[in-house]
Amino acid sequence: MEKKRILFVCLGNICRSPLAEGLFKKKIHEQDVAHLFEVDSCGTGNYHIGEQPDPRTIKNARQNGVVLEHVCRQLRASDFEYFDHLLVMDQSNYTNTLRVGEERYHYKVELMRKYDPRGRHENVPDPWFGGEEGFQEVFEILDRSTAHLLQSLLKGEELR
Ligand code: 4NP
Repeated sequence: MEKKRILFVCLGNICRSPLAEGLFKKKIHEQDVAHLFEVDSCGTGNYHIGEQPDPRTIKNARQNGVVLEHVCRQLRASDFEYFDHLLVMDQSNYTNTLRVGEERYHYKVELMRKYDPRGRHENVPDPWFGGEEGFQEVFEILDRSTAHLLQSLLKGEELR
């Protein structure tokens, strides 16, 4: 399999997409396929550039055995050429993401929950404004979705 480049995208790049990145990286290491992937995350917004993930996301991830190492950056047009898959967290992300990249690359942009067997095509809810339970819900959604994404990529059966 050719090396695949995967980019997870949310709004702030401090809650959902850095967690998706951390989960995917953990799974590819556990399955000894890390050499087949390059993985990153970013946000469509510019509010938190240069920051670590949200302390609530870091804490929740740690409680679930996932270490997050990411510095927030904004989505850029060149990401569309470089990456093979851009996984976005919700419909609003989807619209905002398409605005940044050339139309010929739009086919690379997919909703993250396309790969969630429970709740296909739904949004990954934004936990930013809510309580702790919201972070756990997001963790479980992204744990399932990244597992199925990885399975599909390894089988060469992406859904797009
Ligand atoms: P994320 O959550 O998109 O999952 O990183 C958010 C984080 C920050 C903001 C919005 C969403 N914000 O408006 O600052």
